Amino acid sequence: MTTITTLTKFIIDQQHEIPDASGDLTRILNDIGIASKFVHREVNKAGLADILGLEGTENVQGEQQKKLDVYANDQFISALKAGGQCAAIASEENEEVIILDNSISNKAKYVVAIDPLDGSSNIEVNVSIGTVFSIYKRKSEIGKPADESDLLQPGTDIVAAGYVIYGSSTMLVYTTGHGVNGFTLDPSVGLFILSHPNIRYPETGNIYSVNESNHIYFQESIKAYIQFCHEDDSNTGRPYITRYIGSMVADVHRNLLLGGIFLYPGTIKKPNGKLRLLYECKPMAYIAEQAGGKASDGSRRILEIHPDSIHQRSPFYMGPTKMVEKIEEFIRFF
Ligand code: AHG
Ligand code: MN
Ligand code: MN
Repeated sequence: MTTITTLTKFIIDQQHEIPDASGDLTRILNDIGIASKFVHREVNKAGLADILGLEGTENVQGEQQKKLDVYANDQFISALKAGGQCAAIASEENEEVIILDNSISNKAKYVVAIDPLDGSSNIEVNVSIGTVFSIYKRKSEIGKPADESDLLQPGTDIVAAGYVIYGSSTMLVYTTGHGVNGFTLDPSVGLFILSHPNIRYPETGNIYSVNESNHIYFQESIKAYIQFCHEDDSNTGRPYITRYIGSMVADVHRNLLLGGIFLYPGTIKKPNGKLRLLYECKPMAYIAEQAGGKASDGSRRILEIHPDSIHQRSPFYMGPTKMVEKIEEFIRFF
């Protein structure tokens, strides 16, 4: 019989690799895993909303049914609140940092940044969506309420980050700084099972993922790089293949496994692009580096950027090191 490793077992086994581990981080990761199963369940019945009268109608408790991204947000927040190991949360869905100001959470060592549902425009058309999370040690005094500055740390201070992809199967991929591992949900038993141990980017790849409808608004350097992707050169596997889902988690996941660059550049209209530094770029950058790849804003390492505000945006380039270095070269020389 094959031995299976569940997410819970794996997290506990890895605890000794985390400095001063007391089990708190283990519990947060576990809570995120549990909340994601509830989101998985709702995502999987999203298409039945009209038939079952889910969205916009009242449920049996007489509560209004919520949109999926709000549902996901509530689910992760309540799991982190109930767990007691998290002192504050920054979420895409909340303007301000949520300070979990109670006697238990004030003693917590960690804070969490989350995009509860990424790729929400894809929900209605049955295309993969995701969750992105990252965990930091708070800087403020333990025992008191946390504050916004606890979330405004550079990505180099991340202690764990990951994503969940709700795709043809649901997967949780995470790292605590000791490599990247992927777990696939077996819905029949409700367990995440280690299916992708030690994920590494291929050394290079032949996929590029960008929303090319923004082409006319890109800087000349980005236009030239896209031109490079289109050129014929059998030595470097060009022309590259275009793949763009419009769910960052799904685009990044495919490129991580198959080898490809994901880019969301700034445009003339929006110099910082669209993606949010704190809860989209930084966690993915941490995963990229842990998988042997690279993530940059075109010239700076994403993990070294000190955020000024929780919803700030950044241009984003992520992929195998060689592919990201190539686009940086274009940006530098233009
Ligand atoms: P979210 O649904 O969390 O707001 O994020 C959507 C993001 C990201 O998932 C994706 O890569 C990007 O938006 C797609 O943007 P475009 O439609 O501009 O390509
Ligand atoms: Mn998002
Ligand atoms: Mn979102």
